[in-house]
Amino acid sequence: MLMPNSVPDLRDAATAARENAYAPYSNFKVGAAMRGASGKIYVGANVENVSYPVGTCAEEAALAAMVVAGETEVIEAYVIADAPEPVPPSGACRQRLKEFGKDDVTGWMGSTDGKEEASTIGDLLPGAFDAGYMVRS
Ligand code: THU
Repeated sequence: MLMPNSVPDLRDAATAARENAYAPYSNFKVGAAMRGASGKIYVGANVENVSYPVGTCAEEAALAAMVVAGETEVIEAYVIADAPEPVPPSGACRQRLKEFGKDDVTGWMGSTDGKEEASTIGDLLPGAFDAGYMVRS
């Protein structure tokens, strides 16, 4: 059982990134921070579009920044929003996290009023599709 007590640098990075979210349609700003295997932190925020489905998620942006910087392994993740309860990553973002993080990687979920929960990538996406399903032995 993980005890909520995130590493503050990750929470702070996600909180700061959230400030720059572009969310004029939902008015729901989300920030994310990914710690790469190198220890560096990569941040993202949601970027909406007048053509609604074109919008992108905070986790998506943070993981993209990590990959562009040359890293492909996330060792800790944080997502935060102004929500009544710690905000969970969307289904699509769970799949994105799964691509770059092992099942035991901690995924922190926070709210701007200080609530926090921890899970793992494996627990967030049980029964995930992975490359193994594309190979017939
Ligand atoms: N959103 C994220 O950025 N990440 C999530 O995991 C959940 C949802 C964004 C997408 C959209 O801009 C807004 O939150 C409302 O759905």
